[in-house]
Amino acid sequence: MSRIAYVNGRFLPHSHAEVHVEDRGYQFADGVYEVVLVQNGVMVDEIPHLERLDRSLDELRIAHPMSRGALRSVMRELVRLNRIRNGLVYMQVTRGVAKRDHPFPKNAKPSIVLTAKRIAMPSQETVENGVKVITIRDIRWERCDIKSVSLLPNILGKQQARENGAFEAWQVDAEGNVTEGTSSNAWIVTQDGELITRPATNDILNGITRLSILKLAKRQGLKYVERPFSVEEAKKAREAFASSATAFVTPVTQIDDVVIGNGKAGTLSRGLRDSYMEYAAGEGATA
Ligand code: PDD
Repeated sequence: MSRIAYVNGRFLPHSHAEVHVEDRGYQFADGVYEVVLVQNGVMVDEIPHLERLDRSLDELRIAHPMSRGALRSVMRELVRLNRIRNGLVYMQVTRGVAKRDHPFPKNAKPSIVLTAKRIAMPSQETVENGVKVITIRDIRWERCDIKSVSLLPNILGKQQARENGAFEAWQVDAEGNVTEGTSSNAWIVTQDGELITRPATNDILNGITRLSILKLAKRQGLKYVERPFSVEEAKKAREAFASSATAFVTPVTQIDDVVIGNGKAGTLSRGLRDSYMEYAAGEGATA
């Protein structure tokens, strides 16, 4: 079955889905995006993702290309047309097409593109044995809270991770504290059993999965605190994990050359992973 994409008002075969060469997303990375998980055919945490999309657009003063209701219909139609049971919807909005010039164009209409694809669930091996992360310098800008398509530092970091046999690269600020992964948020569990993740300032993307995990942790009465943690502290942690719409809760069992805990996914990480999966299939799912 051929894939279908949505481009500026039309559903098209993926192979014919194109945008203009002078789209500002292409020339300036002048745009934002969202990735929404689809589980059992339904979107997970759809509204928080759409709220974050609106926020990213507003922060960059890009006009909203369509109403939320219309966008939700397009998302559903795309999932249906591509017969996605487990996968993701990718959506991207840019400032539009205009003759190349840095200031905002006067009359450009925002461009919107949506694609959908199937994704495999993480293997049992990953869930049980966890993954490795490396640490790299965070060389990004000061507005990492905006989900911008400008991702060069992130892709360079992820490539470095892959070349070092790692799942993710945890970016580290000038103070030696972990900001986040290149496409996921970073978490540790201290030897005292306290769950730690960096507060949502402009230094990180406030992950929708991160927010759901915090909600679940609170409900379960877990001890948690949003504060920066250093690479050194992470390497001494009892557990660590990464979170994102596509990685859910992925246990981290090695940071650089240091094995975390006993090298197996930690109890708290596994528990949170299970509760997140339950949440994604129930309360977090939108029909
Ligand atoms: N990335 N931090 C960064 C830099 C990210 O790119 C992402 C998500 C996250 C986690 O956010 P959420 O829980 O809302 O997915 C944190 C998506 C999945 C991507 O770029 O593919």
